[in-house]
Amino acid sequence: MKRIAVMTSGGDAPGMNAAVRAVVRAGLDKQVEVYGIRQAFQGLLAGDIALLSSREVSGILQRGGTVLQTARNEEFKTAAGQRKGRRRLNEHGIEGVIVIGGDGSMRGALALHKMGVPVIGIPASIDNDIWGTDTSIGVDTALNTILDAVDRLRDTATSHNRAFVIEVMGRDCGYLAVMGGILGGAEIVVTPENGVTMNEIAVALEDAYVRGKSHAIAILAEGAPYQGPELARFLQQKHMGFEIRLTILGHTQRGGSPTAFDRLLATRMGVYAVDLLLGGADGMMVARVGRDQNPIELAECSARTRQITPEYFGLAKILSR
Ligand code: F6P
Repeated sequence: MKRIAVMTSGGDAPGMNAAVRAVVRAGLDKQVEVYGIRQAFQGLLAGDIALLSSREVSGILQRGGTVLQTARNEEFKTAAGQRKGRRRLNEHGIEGVIVIGGDGSMRGALALHKMGVPVIGIPASIDNDIWGTDTSIGVDTALNTILDAVDRLRDTATSHNRAFVIEVMGRDCGYLAVMGGILGGAEIVVTPENGVTMNEIAVALEDAYVRGKSHAIAILAEGAPYQGPELARFLQQKHMGFEIRLTILGHTQRGGSPTAFDRLLATRMGVYAVDLLLGGADGMMVARVGRDQNPIELAECSARTRQITPEYFGLAKILSR
């Protein structure tokens, strides 16, 4: 292989740039040209593909977001779109592609693989919902952003004897909520998985008040069965001792400079993905398991969703006392 391409796709995640840099420099190290596909599958269809030099990826290691940009795209989900994508790669003489992104992006990568394009995926999504890998690029940074916010909100909550509902991201997976709860000291955590009712939250917060706590925190995943505003209104009407305030962290969780952990994860995964591609692997995703990196089938990881280790729900409960 003499010419490969890299794209970042789906929701951006801190550390994507570090992964792009690693792919480009690992390619150059092996005398392979690396092209950047801008705006993910949308850019692929538009032929927005350009050679990346080592200098072009200078100074991006520490930057959040993605210099290649990203976009959600419907056309590539169709057979006609996938054919067009294959044609665009042929036009540029691209022999293999590295896709950096979340579970939807891994399904796009699998579609390219099925069109006969050698493909390697790199998991990047703050949600930590990608099957087969212990963690994905961006999770650690997002979690640290959440903890910073929870710590600040606890300061003001304590000053006013208030309870805060804090809504964090996580469409289908409550990983950020559970870990934010354990590590941020929340009284209760609500996720798409754990089925906690609004009433149970009211009971937990009232209990915290009765036990003499000066603040209380409920962390709610965005994918929970009810949203932050609805929950905050419900709790306000319950008059359980604390005044209620709501903070939705939203896209602040997606930005920011990647942590040391995410920079290392992205750098190792980027270099490993190039090794796999040039070594003849195809239709695989890089997975971190323990301290190691292994290839796993894209077909397997794009068909399933990573589950939260049940132990964490137990920890969140025990430590909320
Ligand atoms: O998948 C990552 C994620 O941040 C989810 O947690 C969230 O539901 C979604 O992306 C938001 O997407 P958008 O950037 O399109 O608002």
